[in-house]
Amino acid sequence: MPSGRLRDTHKTVVDVGCGTGRELSQLASDHPRHVRFIGVEPAANMRRIAAARTARCPNVRIVDGRFERLPLETQSVDYLYSVLAFHWTTDLRKSVSELARVLRPTGEMDLTFIGRNNGREFIMKTTPVFFKYMTLATMVEAVSLRKQLRLEEATALFREAFDSSGLTVTESYHTYYDTLDGHWGWWMRIEGQLVNVPSDQKTECNQAVRAAISTLETASGIPYTVHLLHVRLREI
Ligand SMILES: C[S@@+](CC[C@H](N)C(=O)[O-])C[C@H]1O[C@@H](n2cnc3c(N)ncnc32)[C@H](O)[C@@H]1O
Repeated sequence: MPSGRLRDTHKTVVDVGCGTGRELSQLASDHPRHVRFIGVEPAANMRRIAAARTARCPNVRIVDGRFERLPLETQSVDYLYSVLAFHWTTDLRKSVSELARVLRPTGEMDLTFIGRNNGREFIMKTTPVFFKYMTLATMVEAVSLRKQLRLEEATALFREAFDSSGLTVTESYHTYYDTLDGHWGWWMRIEGQLVNVPSDQKTECNQAVRAAISTLETASGIPYTVHLLHVRLREI
């Protein structure tokens, strides 16, 4: 999270994939009015909520856009951050070159996004089940909806565009425990795979997936490990 990371020199601050504007509205209320905040978000429903949430801050603007095509002037941004959105880009190289384009030469950045090993316990258990209900082609299509990078891949990608020793790429793992139903609601929302299961087999597939996930049960609940990548650019 970028809170507390803004410097006095940061006059234009951008949140890409700002969603409902939670972080932006917090930052805008904690900083003086001369700092310009811009939320970039492709989903109209999210933009509406973000605009309503930040309506009392005249220095916040919510705009339509995405990593692949940022609606921002070249070398105009002092600090750019993004929370859990970069893995949704459809074009990694274009997105990274857009980030390099809009940042000022002294610009700083923090991107936090999901990496390749996200939810590895669930993947190990559910992949054999999905293969019973989906073809290889529909599985590949579902999985490629999200870009899932390894640390080395993310490092190589960002190094190509940011030739700076101020750039670091790190990873972290966080394991959360919950009940099956506790995990189920959000997991179904973010995992697109089931959309491709033929409708007459959905109920049966859901039951098989739930049974597979239940085998992960421990005394603390069912684990889900989040794999996060963090790209950090600081002036040196
Ligand atoms: C998990 S939400 C995170 C929202 C917000 N950053 C937060 O932490 O609450 C992911 C957001 O990324 C947005 N998104 C999807 N594809 C995107 C893209 N290509 N470029 C930028 N944002 C994108 C979604 O519309 C969604 O608002």
